[in-house]
Amino acid sequence: MVDVIEKDLLIVGSGLAGLRAAIQAAKTSTKIKIAVISKVQVMRSHSVSAEGGTAAVIFEDEGDSLESHAYDTIKGSDFLADQDVVERFVSIMPSEIYQLEHWGMPWSRRKDGRIGQRAFGGYSFPRASYAQDKVGFYEMQTLYDTCQKFDNIEFFNEWFVTSIVHDGQQFCGLTAIEISSGTFYTIKGKGLIIAAGGAGRLYSFSTYALSSTPDGLDLAYRAGMALKDMEFVQFHPTGILPSGILITEGARGDGGYLINNKGERFMKNYAAKLMELAPRDIVSRSMMTEMQEGRGFKHETGVDCLKIDLRHLGDDLIKEKLAAVREISMKFSGVDPSKEPLEVRPVCHYMMGGVHTNIDGATEIKGIWAAGEVACNSTHGSNRLGANSTGECLVWGKLTGEFAAEYVLSCKTPPFPLYQVETEEKRIYDGVFRGRGDVNPYEIKQELTDTMNDKAYVFRNENDLITGLKKIRELRELTWKHVDDQAKEYNTNFTNVLELDAMFRVTEVLLLGAIYRKESRGAHARTDYPNRDDKNFLHHTLVYHAKEPIIKTHPVAITKYKPVERKY
Ligand code: FUM
Repeated sequence: MVDVIEKDLLIVGSGLAGLRAAIQAAKTSTKIKIAVISKVQVMRSHSVSAEGGTAAVIFEDEGDSLESHAYDTIKGSDFLADQDVVERFVSIMPSEIYQLEHWGMPWSRRKDGRIGQRAFGGYSFPRASYAQDKVGFYEMQTLYDTCQKFDNIEFFNEWFVTSIVHDGQQFCGLTAIEISSGTFYTIKGKGLIIAAGGAGRLYSFSTYALSSTPDGLDLAYRAGMALKDMEFVQFHPTGILPSGILITEGARGDGGYLINNKGERFMKNYAAKLMELAPRDIVSRSMMTEMQEGRGFKHETGVDCLKIDLRHLGDDLIKEKLAAVREISMKFSGVDPSKEPLEVRPVCHYMMGGVHTNIDGATEIKGIWAAGEVACNSTHGSNRLGANSTGECLVWGKLTGEFAAEYVLSCKTPPFPLYQVETEEKRIYDGVFRGRGDVNPYEIKQELTDTMNDKAYVFRNENDLITGLKKIRELRELTWKHVDDQAKEYNTNFTNVLELDAMFRVTEVLLLGAIYRKESRGAHARTDYPNRDDKNFLHHTLVYHAKEPIIKTHPVAITKYKPVERKY
């Protein structure tokens, strides 16, 4: 007998999108019972690591405009963003900044007392609202604190969701393991919001928390929903060596320079106008080119890198506005940024793709929404502008929270397909927990992520992508699906192998999308197809789960911004 819990609205993920959704749903009706289910403790969700800012137009009186935020985002996306989605996004963002403030967000202030905004890449106005360089931490704290005011939000921390149960058309519930006890549960619900975050741990050099594996994406994929635009992976220009921890774009927004081994601000040769504040795809490609052409430095680990120089900003500014950068560089690299430049290189930072949704965040299954990085409503197209992701979490957290709450108040629950719970129990306990084999899953995980680093990084080509896919499929066939630790309580060996299982499926989707897309657009730079090809590829990629994954396409919504060549 599997233990059963019953709630109305289930939210998988306790980052910015999940918490914002929970608050909005709880505000919509105090009658609905909401469960926020997360494999980590709330304040360990990866959203706490967001550093530099949340973009919104709040200074229209000083020349900023919604139109400008929309156009910067669409141009930054290399015209793959759905323009109606972007328009909705920028129009809701200003109220989210003030909403957070009313809930207690300690935004940094200008001298005149108004909320501080700093410059970020690809924007024509400095519109990244900031709180030092710990934006995600303060936003999470503000939302988590606000959640405590609602009696109808219950947190299930350290629960690993293993599957979505539906009757072919409509959502019915989830299966999950309570990690602390090892107990397998059915959680029945009427509505679901998937807000499980991104999956940047598919790459070994990554800014993401170790928990950022693609379990949330995989849940949706296995349940029959399409993953959209997974080939578009963002490489942030400044991952500090050797760890890969993020050095915020705010460091360049506040005046930091990128320099090569000749001491030159090389960005003048690639984006003469915006320089270091060109969009991330362009800065990362420029950095790779500098290194490939011999103008990089060698880090002591042997890795090529460039440097970000903050010395001219002075100790006071660094301590006031870039306190996290200072702490990270001193603790993890032993460098004081006011005395020495930091050694950095492009690092996996964000997935533009995700669970396919419409403009409301609704997926292809009734009763299921997705919000935040796990979702792809296509705010960001093929390249996201920095400071637009925390905002996306807030906007679609709010929207999906409201839509899902309204839905669960009126929907009729279909008969629960119990057989799916039995099938899932067999899949994870017979197929994984009691599996046999002598291949070490942790070594396989390392090989998988190293393969992604080698074969599907900033620059890609057909040969590398196919070799990468072949390698991933070979690894998948090895006998890594077993759990040596047979304890029930806190069995992280078990959850690690489940994560690896998800990684294989989602990596395959990413590589298939990258092979399919024979053009260069935004963050997907193919050296064998160096140009954008609007005639053949101005569409989204959808991949559906099947023995051999099925690729389909989906149109891009264009309202009024005609695709043109991007120049910065
Ligand atoms: O550089 C940063 O602070 C990152 C921000 C973002 O990805 O939005």
